[in-house]
Amino acid sequence: MEKKLLVGITGASGMPYAYYLVKELQSLKIPFEVIITEAGKLVWKHELEKDWQILKNFTSKVYEEHEMSAPPASGSAPYYGMVVVPCSMGTLSAVACGSARNLLQRAADVMLKERKPLVLVIRETPLSLIHLKNMLYCTEAGAVIFPAMPAFYHKPSSLEDLIIQFVKRIIQFLGVNSKNFYTWQGINPYQSFNSSLK
Ligand SMILES: Cc1cc2nc3c(=O)[nH]c(=O)nc-3n(C[C@H](O)[C@H](O)[C@H](O)COP(=O)(O)O)c2cc1C
Repeated sequence: MEKKLLVGITGASGMPYAYYLVKELQSLKIPFEVIITEAGKLVWKHELEKDWQILKNFTSKVYEEHEMSAPPASGSAPYYGMVVVPCSMGTLSAVACGSARNLLQRAADVMLKERKPLVLVIRETPLSLIHLKNMLYCTEAGAVIFPAMPAFYHKPSSLEDLIIQFVKRIIQFLGVNSKNFYTWQGINPYQSFNSSLK
């Protein structure tokens, strides 16, 4: 059976990351399925001004949070890992304590119990002690906290450029080669010196 990646979308800010991630996964022909929470649908609509149903243009399987009997609820299903992007503090907390009260939380819990990769692209600012402790608990249980903190060292020329580089960083982290991913080549001190004289 073909192994797939699971993409979880929760109600944190940062839907452009989720949107560009599913677009990129589709263009790379990486098989994946999506779970979106109710809050995720709301924030998706607000930030992207698109209906969440368009996710079905990128993958054949889009689960809603109440579908507790769907394949992602079981460790026997053929997923090799999961990325939650964006990941709310609510879902982070549920993963930290293993409450598994919806399909997305259960799927994340399954990843941890099966010792499979779980990447949480958390977004909140500032962070409370509770948030920080929940990140620690998730890290101790095997998850990777991958904060939605885009970099600037590739000198993005647009917001889209910034988002796409971050999304490709997630894909690279998952062990897949993304097309046109900028990798750091070091700074040429001579060039930097010249440009600072301009
Ligand atoms: C426009 C909007 C933006 C939000 N942004 C965040 C955020 O960045 N981080 C966060 O933890 N919660 C954020 N929330 C709150 C979550 O949506 C809320 O806690 C929700 O219960 C999370 O549920 P879920 O984890 O099941 O998706 C936001 C809510 C709205 C309406």
